[in-house]
Amino acid sequence: MRRKLYLETFGCQMNVLDSELVLGQLRAQGYESVEDRDQADVILYNTCSVREHAEQKVWSRLGELRDRKKLEPHLVIGVIGCMAERDGTNLFKRHPHVDVLCGPGELDKLPSLVHNATIANAAHYPSPPYAGERLGGGASSSNKNEDKTPHPTSPLNTGERRQRERQVALMGASVRRSSTLAAAEDHLELLDLSRSVSPGDDISQAYVRITRGCNKFCTYCVVPYTRGPEVHRPPQNIVDEVRMLADAGAKEVTLLGQTINHYAFAHGDGRVTSFADLLYLIHESVSHLPRLRFVTSFPRDFSDQALQAMRDCERICRYLHVPAQSGSDRILKLMNRGYTRQQYDDFLSRARELMPDVSVASDFIVGFPTETDDDFAQTAELVRRNRFKNSFIFKYSPRPGTTAIDRFTDDVPEDVKRRRNNELLAVQQQASEALNRAMVGTTVEVIVEGESKLVSRQAAGASNVELKWESRRAAVPVQTQMVGRTRGDHVVCFDGDRSLKGEILDVTITDARNMTLFARRATSGSFTVTNPPPRGTGLQPVRAT
Ligand code: 5AD
Ligand code: SF4
Repeated sequence: MRRKLYLETFGCQMNVLDSELVLGQLRAQGYESVEDRDQADVILYNTCSVREHAEQKVWSRLGELRDRKKLEPHLVIGVIGCMAERDGTNLFKRHPHVDVLCGPGELDKLPSLVHNATIANAAHYPSPPYAGERLGGGASSSNKNEDKTPHPTSPLNTGERRQRERQVALMGASVRRSSTLAAAEDHLELLDLSRSVSPGDDISQAYVRITRGCNKFCTYCVVPYTRGPEVHRPPQNIVDEVRMLADAGAKEVTLLGQTINHYAFAHGDGRVTSFADLLYLIHESVSHLPRLRFVTSFPRDFSDQALQAMRDCERICRYLHVPAQSGSDRILKLMNRGYTRQQYDDFLSRARELMPDVSVASDFIVGFPTETDDDFAQTAELVRRNRFKNSFIFKYSPRPGTTAIDRFTDDVPEDVKRRRNNELLAVQQQASEALNRAMVGTTVEVIVEGESKLVSRQAAGASNVELKWESRRAAVPVQTQMVGRTRGDHVVCFDGDRSLKGEILDVTITDARNMTLFARRATSGSFTVTNPPPRGTGLQPVRAT
């Protein structure tokens, strides 16, 4: 019988990609992925440590499993990703029912860890038996410095007191910080190379990693510690992966890197493939891919050549996600960002000079230690003048292991953080609304991502509506509110049917309301569009023409 696997992912796009790769590997080993956690034999959480809030969600998920593990000691519970790396085996003290820990730098070992945990649990809690050989891979944690309390319900508690072996693979202190390890020699490269697409996989929008890790060491950030140093993947491996995805039907590939514009692959013969070179290379080599995009850009070290590649290559989306974090030079310095607000503005001016239509998004942290009202006012000013499409705004969260938590007191009170967060959101909202209004009447290309969440929520909340929906589904394509994404990353709602998911089509923007764009299909279709949706039902009238 195939073992059932439940995998839940928290955090960034990098984690989403890691989960996809891990799932592929475990499926190849015979696991079947399930949506219902209660059905699973193996439960994995792919975790994020960037802010405390993200970790709290995982703590509560693990807490929920404590009682179940007592009843089902053969259940394998694993914490993978950044939290595993950051907390290490301390995590077992708080949650002794966890069996597997695997950091983001060791995910190629996960199948053996899960397999070994299955066997270890079976040996420790006899019946039902699990047959199988121990696979090579991660270290067993039984010799490590960790909580060794036998499981409370173990029959061995009162008898033999054998240790339940946990499976651990972490980079730990052995982070290869000083090495210039090439990705070609990196065991993790095998994980990316193992990627395969199965029939039925939804790959219309896919991620491809080009760089792992980060060398920036912003003082507030855990990423350099959890994901290790920058390692750039060989360009040919990246091109092959993008081509494989395009051949399999991908319409949009997003290249991933923490500081993606730092990409520079040193070939053995002294040649270097820069980020600009890579963009041209992918664009030329995979000419049947309709859309290529990338995140996240660092505001420094973005070459004119890379901007020119964006301008010259028609299938590269003119979208930059380039976090500013603060508009105060003093705070930027404390954050160790390595640029001033003037340099940030200059970069955007350069980008807009070459591509007046480029769409830009940013990230900000409010309430960084010692941030004054004046520092914050400078951040608000930076948002006002830079016409961001949107900004992701976060309250500073002190993270264990970072320089900021050791060096600075978290001295901005929570209510001040909250107020600044709301104020900055309001400033950004004004800018977003103005940009959105300017789009009304224009026709834009969107990739259809799926049904609008608003519609799904409303339908789920009203059973009578759901019933009508179901009966319609059988008869004709259901007209509903779909969501598409423009090349500039704007989200657009329009009427369409579910079969459009994954298609690229033109829509004309008809309205901009509360940060949301509404549209109708620009080409003649088999239905008439009404926008925006009638309030309350979440369903659109079907009117065939
Ligand atoms: N506190 C708050 N926000 C943070 N970010 C990273 N670390 C922290 C932290 N300790 C934000 C930054 C980054 C985004 C991914 O998360 O804005 O760009
Ligand atoms: Fe973290 Fe800074 Fe690296 Fe971004 S650039 S991942 S914020 S250390």
